[in-house]
Amino acid sequence: MRSYSLIASAKINLYLEIIKDRPDDYHDLVMVLQSINLADRVDLRPLKNDTICLHCNHPEVPQDHRNLAYKAAALMAQKFPDAFAKYGGVDITIDKRIPVGAGLAGGSTNAAAVLVGLNLMWNLRLSISQLQYLGSLLGSDVPFCIVGGTMLATGRGEYLTRLPVIDSFYAVLAKYRSLSVSTAWAYQTFRHQYLSSHALDTVAVVGCKQRTYSEQMVSAITRHNKKQICQFLHNDLERVVLPKYPQVQKLRDEFQRLGCSVMMSGSGPTMFALTKSQQEAQQVVEAVKMAIPDPDLDLWISKFTDTSIRVESFSE
Ligand code: C5P
Repeated sequence: MRSYSLIASAKINLYLEIIKDRPDDYHDLVMVLQSINLADRVDLRPLKNDTICLHCNHPEVPQDHRNLAYKAAALMAQKFPDAFAKYGGVDITIDKRIPVGAGLAGGSTNAAAVLVGLNLMWNLRLSISQLQYLGSLLGSDVPFCIVGGTMLATGRGEYLTRLPVIDSFYAVLAKYRSLSVSTAWAYQTFRHQYLSSHALDTVAVVGCKQRTYSEQMVSAITRHNKKQICQFLHNDLERVVLPKYPQVQKLRDEFQRLGCSVMMSGSGPTMFALTKSQQEAQQVVEAVKMAIPDPDLDLWISKFTDTSIRVESFSE
């Protein structure tokens, strides 16, 4: 049986608007998601017994059933017991390059890689939409991570419409290594402050219900209008994450001072700034490093990509 080595890309949110809270504790969203070429490598090796093993080179990533990639393998074993019995278990090794707890869907993309990889390894011939359905049982961003590219996502994030590819944008990513944000905390805080009947800021609640800029963003993407794409970047979760983490607000301010189009990705705390060339991205990195010479601040240059999960190699 074959071993597979998969490349699993991170994503950024060019747009994230919270439409309303839902009885299941999730939120209805409108998002524009974009794959970037910052990626983990996920190696899958067949095991002769019926176990699932997971290893990761990042100390903060759980290496057991709490890991979303492990849960993806367990879900496949549960849904396809005959294949699991026939082909045996799997050894998953994650080479982590995507920062953890960063709002870049690192865990979701690893889970997506396991679904795609086991589909191949166990000869299941599942369609993309079947894989996406399984992904939706694991997390809201997993269905996107199965396909990647540039997508409009609605509902919990699982209803996806492909948008035209935005090529040749670079994203400078910046994240404080020691800082991570709980996605559940960010959404629950937003719900409490801006959506519930007990919301503290009633003006904000009314404003929130009236705002929908997503159409402008989608139209800018459809027309390949880079200037407007930069103009319509939006993320509602900045309103709860930035006040709690002043250093992230300062980082954002610094990008803005440099004239960058900047936004937080997902529930943060990663900030990204869009540039039109690698050279411009490099200049931004140097300028931010100079302005904030904090050894805890990591910066990456990434490029927009139109795929998320890709088989890099396989061996018998
Ligand atoms: O789906 P996932 O497990 O990635 O979501 C993590 C947390 O983010 C959820 O527990 C929920 O609190 C919040 N969330 C939400 N609405 C969404 C997606 C996520 O409230 N559409």
